[in-house]
Amino acid sequence: MAFGFASYNFLICALLVLQCGYGISARMTIERRMYLEEEIDDDLINITNPKPSYNVWFTPKDLYKGFTKPVYFEKEDPAKMPYFLSKEEADAIPFAIPELDNILARFSISRNSPQGKAIAYTIYNCDLHPTSHMIASCVSSLESMLDLVQKSYGPNTNFDLYTSVIHHSENTPLLQNYTFLDTPYQIPTQKMIACHPMPYPYAIFYCHGHLDGSTKVYKIPLGGEYGDRVEAIAVCHADTSGWDKDHISFKMLHMKPGSGPVCHVIPQNNFVWIPTNSVH
Ligand SMILES: *[C@@H]1O[C@H](CO)[C@@H](O)[C@H](O)[C@H]1NC(C)=O
Ligand SMILES: *[C@@H]1O[C@H](CO)[C@@H](O)[C@H](O)[C@H]1NC(C)=O
Repeated sequence: MAFGFASYNFLICALLVLQCGYGISARMTIERRMYLEEEIDDDLINITNPKPSYNVWFTPKDLYKGFTKPVYFEKEDPAKMPYFLSKEEADAIPFAIPELDNILARFSISRNSPQGKAIAYTIYNCDLHPTSHMIASCVSSLESMLDLVQKSYGPNTNFDLYTSVIHHSENTPLLQNYTFLDTPYQIPTQKMIACHPMPYPYAIFYCHGHLDGSTKVYKIPLGGEYGDRVEAIAVCHADTSGWDKDHISFKMLHMKPGSGPVCHVIPQNNFVWIPTNSVH
């Protein structure tokens, strides 16, 4: 695999292998539920007690060789790979706020458990109202994700997948100081769509797209203080004026909506789609 890049055909093959290797119910009942529990808890955003995983934010002035900051990366773990259903399977399962009780019953999850809260969090946050200059949608299958990207870029546009590639050693901490080993490379594109996994018993991705050049994408080679290496993909959002004032990035960077661009590294299992050879 090249630096921070995999063709989406490769990804689909990898996912199919994963998908075929496990029974769906076993994956849902054990590993995914553990993952759900880990991901969301009561202090979802409690900045007095920041979670290690909040350490992904920086600003464009940090984009230089030698910049060092603590960054959190999960270890690559197939058990944490979002479990994709086929489009047919996913479309047959209700996914809407009024269906919340039915959905919880379907997975035998109680509303007040950490998993129940995670499911509610995802369903409510997927009730999206995209604006004219921003694509925002939750997708419940890889096919739907690819459809969304193709529809957004137009039928004749090819696109590539970018994702952070993490090379962790065995016993190194997930949060550690990383140094930018080289000058960040800005991928020449005006358009990007990023898809983030949401906590849910199967793969639900929140995808948001920016087609107006307002979001810049970088490749940054990172060297960890314990020798770990990450070929990181990072994005910088120029316009945060519409963001929630309580957004975690503002708390971590001591900023406010619209007070300046914010950047973050892309965690594992998050996808950035960019038109091939794009300069427009
Ligand atoms: C946030 O975390 C701090 C420190 O652990 C704790 O004292 C406080 O009660 C938490 N606040 C909320 C709103 O949960
Ligand atoms: C990163 O380095 C700084 C400065 O040496 C240090 O204070 C901090 O504890 C380190 N953070 C982590 C997560 O290792």
